[in-house]
Amino acid sequence: MAAGAAMFRPRIASAASHIDWWTHARFGMFIHWGVHTIIARDIWNMDHEEIPPAEYKELGKKFKPPPGGPRAWAKLARQAGQKYMVLTTKNHDGYCLFDTKTTDFCATKQACGRDLASEFVEAARAEGLKVGFYFSMMDWYHPDGLRCVADEAARRRFVPYIHEQVREICSNYGKIDIMWWDGTWPLSPEGWEAEKIEKEVMRLQPGIVINDRGGTKGHFSTSEQKIEPAGEGRPWETCMTINGSWGYVAADDNWKSSKTVIGNMITSARGGGNFLLNISPRADASVPEASVRVLEEIGRWMNKHGDAIYGSERCRVSRSNYVNFTRRGNTLFLHVTRWPGPVITLARFTSKVKSARWLATGEPVAFEQARQEDPREPAIGFPLYRVKFTGLPETNAGMLPVIAAEFEAEPVQDLKYPRWQKK
Ligand code: GLC
Repeated sequence: MAAGAAMFRPRIASAASHIDWWTHARFGMFIHWGVHTIIARDIWNMDHEEIPPAEYKELGKKFKPPPGGPRAWAKLARQAGQKYMVLTTKNHDGYCLFDTKTTDFCATKQACGRDLASEFVEAARAEGLKVGFYFSMMDWYHPDGLRCVADEAARRRFVPYIHEQVREICSNYGKIDIMWWDGTWPLSPEGWEAEKIEKEVMRLQPGIVINDRGGTKGHFSTSEQKIEPAGEGRPWETCMTINGSWGYVAADDNWKSSKTVIGNMITSARGGGNFLLNISPRADASVPEASVRVLEEIGRWMNKHGDAIYGSERCRVSRSNYVNFTRRGNTLFLHVTRWPGPVITLARFTSKVKSARWLATGEPVAFEQARQEDPREPAIGFPLYRVKFTGLPETNAGMLPVIAAEFEAEPVQDLKYPRWQKK
């Protein structure tokens, strides 16, 4: 085999691992919720306006969501094709949605009077979804939360407080599938005693999948508001908002279209990553209608095209200005973003197409393929193919229609064409 071809050898599947369900799932729901929804200007409002904790605490008296919210979110998530849900059990503002012995600034001891983490877990499980807990280590409400940077005595009070909360959420809610850390500012990993608490989490929740925002590497990398694949072989996830805010912001009307959101999920899946899409329920747990609409449209698309997302693997095909791609095994999924007319042409494949069909209906798609010349010297030593999918409709065949093309080997485009190599 020529040297150039070696890099296209299919990789041997590795042994099953505890994160396999997560990498297969590809699509989840992120929920930012808490007392900040009363102000309706996001969690960060507390920081930006420097609201003193004693004043912020008043929100605990006003936050009284009626029961049933998490059930509605979980239903929406399942219908959208999401496989897991991640709830902010505590964001940076320090309000705990879970019951805790460590503070009275929690749902059970404030006006709400119920354990919202527990309602969330039950709701997710009832819809067959995996359960994720977001937990912010950074805590603006605790008096030592900032002091701990320069004052060792404060750090020694504060870190056990945080660790105890982590122990509580890992002990009192049955099986938790994901630990989604956030906010390690202002301490270093050593300051947080991050390795110690991570071990504790894994002891209390064997098999849990952990992100990389707790001062350790965890099991997967996170990419926030942009799509940035991690290195080869490393699981990763994009988290993104539907408008521009994590927590509920009444005045944020900067909604992404369903097509944009689905496009972001496709691009994440193309890089072999998950897509965690945020909703920001209001104080009464209702989800803004614009978000509901987007999730419902995604659900309709996923019903027909979910096969192109679940279990997708890192894809080494990217060259087209009107098609996006995902891949599973030797099957390439063509997501047509800008309809080109009756023919879709793609070039520089290192193996041949065996069959092609519309993913939604299974109807075959006609195609023809021919060897391509490659002027490289010495000769590259493997054939290249240019493929035309033909007989397609003249105009758009719906939102992001998908063609599944099965190749003889892993579909790869060889992009080392000399025209693009700058000497
Ligand atoms: C940032 C924000 C935080 C939000 C998170 C979601 O870290 O500070 O409020 O929960 O992003 O990824």
